[in-house]
Formats: sequence, structure tokens, C-alpha cells
Amino acid sequence: MKSFIPWIGGKSQLAKKIKSHFPDSFGRYIEVFGGGASVLFSAEKHAPIEVYNDANGQLVNLFRCVKYHCEELQREIRFYLNSREMFGDIRKRLECPGFTDIQRAAMFYVVIKTSYGADTDTFGCSVKKIDTSSFDEIAKRLKRVVIEHKDFEALIKQYDRPDALFYCDPPYHTTERHYSEKFSEADHYRLNAVLTGLKGRFILSYNDDDFVRDLYKNFNIESVSRSNNLSSGAFKEVIIKNY
Ligand SMILES: C[S@@+](CC[C@H](N)C(=O)[O-])C[C@H]1O[C@@H](n2cnc3c(N)ncnc32)[C@H](O)[C@@H]1O
Repeated sequence: MKSFIPWIGGKSQLAKKIKSHFPDSFGRYIEVFGGGASVLFSAEKHAPIEVYNDANGQLVNLFRCVKYHCEELQREIRFYLNSREMFGDIRKRLECPGFTDIQRAAMFYVVIKTSYGADTDTFGCSVKKIDTSSFDEIAKRLKRVVIEHKDFEALIKQYDRPDALFYCDPPYHTTERHYSEKFSEADHYRLNAVLTGLKGRFILSYNDDDFVRDLYKNFNIESVSRSNNLSSGAFKEVIIKNY
């Protein structure tokens, strides 16, 4: 199954490759930097316990509303159009209090779907319909998934066990500005520190640069390459593991 949203840095193209690195068995699967959850959705079930997490509250609210209020959300979205005026209005309204979670989730979904490259900032000028037909299947898939809204460090510490597999896909080094949640150089070091002390296993996606290679020099690093939505041409990435 594919994700129901496009997301900057989304791993739909790499999901198969990433999964091929998963260990044979693990008891809990935790997607730490969830985004559009392309890897989570690429299997019917990864483990008996599955967790989706992201620091972006609008995104987490959208996931929760698809899971718990699927029909109501589909109904709410029906009233939106793919139009520049509406896009501008919604972006302003998302800053205001007083809306229900379902209204907020609907607006955020429309902004993602009608923005340029899912950047949520620029109107995309596409003629695509705002479709919600995949929501029922997504809601079914999310039934077994715990949805969290935490900073990565607290989340990893909470779920860390010897049988845990953490998939980490942080904002890439030097492209952090593409996300609404601030991610600094210090956060890259903080992630490294928490992963270094892990009881369970981790698999980490990153861009291939000297900073990342040096930070993770004590782990297994494999190069991968694909075309990317942040730059033209092939984009060099790495998969890093502690096993
Ligand atoms: C590269 S994207 C993840 C893409 C995802 N793997 C997919 O396939 O769509 C990185 C995500 O990390 C989230 N993020 C940023 N800072 C975070 C933090 N401190 N803790 C948890 N998530 C964070 C962003 O909101 C963003 O959704």
C-alpha cells in the first residue's frame, strides 16, 4: 500500500530497499520521523507492535483523524476545492484557534495535496481532484498502529527494548529548512547520541555527506542512489545500521 499523502523527503521510492535491510524478526517497529510513513505503509504488518511518530502536530492530527474519524474527515474534505484562493485562506485559517481536529485535518490535507511538491507553502497550480478514496484502506492499516507526537529522543527512549527496530528518517543534513519543525545541527548530534546507546536495532536514512559519514563512522553505512524531489538528477543517500 502507498501513503495517502506526498511528503517532502518521503521514501516511497526507497521503501523496498529499506525493508530489504530489516532483520528477520523483531517484536516492535517504530517509525521515529513518520512523515507520510511510506515504509510503514509498504507492508501489511511489520511487527506485532507498530508505532508512527512525528513532531509535526498538524500531520499527527491528520493521521489520527484518518484513523478514528475517517468518514467524517472524507465528508469535510468534500467541501474544498483545488483553488489558489482557497489555498491561501486555508493556510491563514490553520494558524487560528477555534477549529475542530477534523476541520484542521481536512484543511491540512487540502494544503498538502494542492501545494507545489507538497511543500505546504506554494500553490501547486495542478488540476488534480482532491481525492480521499484511499482513506478507508489507510484507516484499516492504522488500526494496529500507535500514533505518537513526540520529539525523537523521548520517543526512542520510551520504546527502546532489545527486540525493537527503529526506522529513523530525520530531516537530511543541510535540508532541514524544508520542514516546519526546526531541526538543528545539535539535533543531528542528539540523534546520534541516543542511537549510539540503543538496546534495540536501528536503521537510519540520511543524505550522503562528510558530516553524516563522520558522525556514524562506527556503524554500517551503505550507499544508495535515486532521483529525488528536492534536487534534480540522482541524489546520493546512505542507509546506516547498528547491526
Ligand atoms: C524526511 S521526513 C520523513 C519522511 C518519511 N519517512 C516518509 O516516507 O514520508 C522527516 C520528518 O521528521 C519530522 N521531524 C522533524 N523534527 C522532528 C523531531 N525533533 N522529532 C520527531 N520528528 C521530527 C518532520 O516533521 C518530518 O515529517
